Amino acid sequence: MQIGSYQLSNQLIVAPMAGVTDQAFRNLCLRYGAALAVSEMLSSNPEVWDSDKSRQRMTHSGEEGVRSVQIAGADPELMANAAKFNVEQGAHIIDINMGCPAKKVNKKFAGSALMQSPDLVKDILQAVVSAVDVPVTLKIRTGWEPEHRNGVEIAKIAEDCGIVSLAVHGRTRQCMYKGFAEYDTIKAIKQNVSIPVVANGDIDSPEKAKFVLDYTGADALMIGRGAQGRPGFLKKSYITWKQVKS
Ligand SMILES: Cc1cc2nc3c(=O)[nH]c(=O)nc-3n(C[C@H](O)[C@H](O)[C@H](O)COP(=O)(O)O)c2cc1C
Repeated sequence: MQIGSYQLSNQLIVAPMAGVTDQAFRNLCLRYGAALAVSEMLSSNPEVWDSDKSRQRMTHSGEEGVRSVQIAGADPELMANAAKFNVEQGAHIIDINMGCPAKKVNKKFAGSALMQSPDLVKDILQAVVSAVDVPVTLKIRTGWEPEHRNGVEIAKIAEDCGIVSLAVHGRTRQCMYKGFAEYDTIKAIKQNVSIPVVANGDIDSPEKAKFVLDYTGADALMIGRGAQGRPGFLKKSYITWKQVKS
């Protein structure tokens, strides 16, 4: 799979997980076979950048592979500035968070809350894409609530705005992490856009990886909790899944 000018070595991407995917964990995952590991989210609010947590998340010296840095926020200008700042700090790819369900993020209308406002989504994506020369990717959920799964609408906006790859977690915001991820919306998104689509949610075995890839037609898989505490799962997944495939 291609993300802008970056050709990934396989179809396994490690999901951004705040408090989990720090630089050490990302490096470990890359060594264990992930093609890309996305950073923990960084707020677009510059007032919090001067904290230990943000400083740690912004440091990339010693980082292996392609550096995809995720930003979160709801103000187009702040998001554009945060993207520029992180590129100056060494980001190769900027990823935009429109999937986080956390209350403290959603109450500022950031993360998955943005899926309720396609106009604001468009403004943010246009602002960020035009602010930086690096590829910009987006991560979404299938919608805000099961009755309003607008993932296809948001995906089309993303494509029109110049987003080069879209990761989709197969739950709505209202679902939080409950129940099971569904893959029909991801499949519908894949059928409605030409940019690469990355399927995410509950992929925890090589067999499930193969199923999700085949069912959705996605270009790659994003794995979060399945890799937590066992980055070797990725390598096992890839090797076994290639065997399952052949
Ligand atoms: C502890 C934790 C932290 C997370 N932090 C982020 C984050 O910073 N940005 C984001 O887009 N998603 C975040 N997520 C969501 C994951 O990226 C992923 O979409 C979700 O866990 C579903 O994938 P999985 O079933 O493979 O874990 C987080 C999830 C967990 C469990």
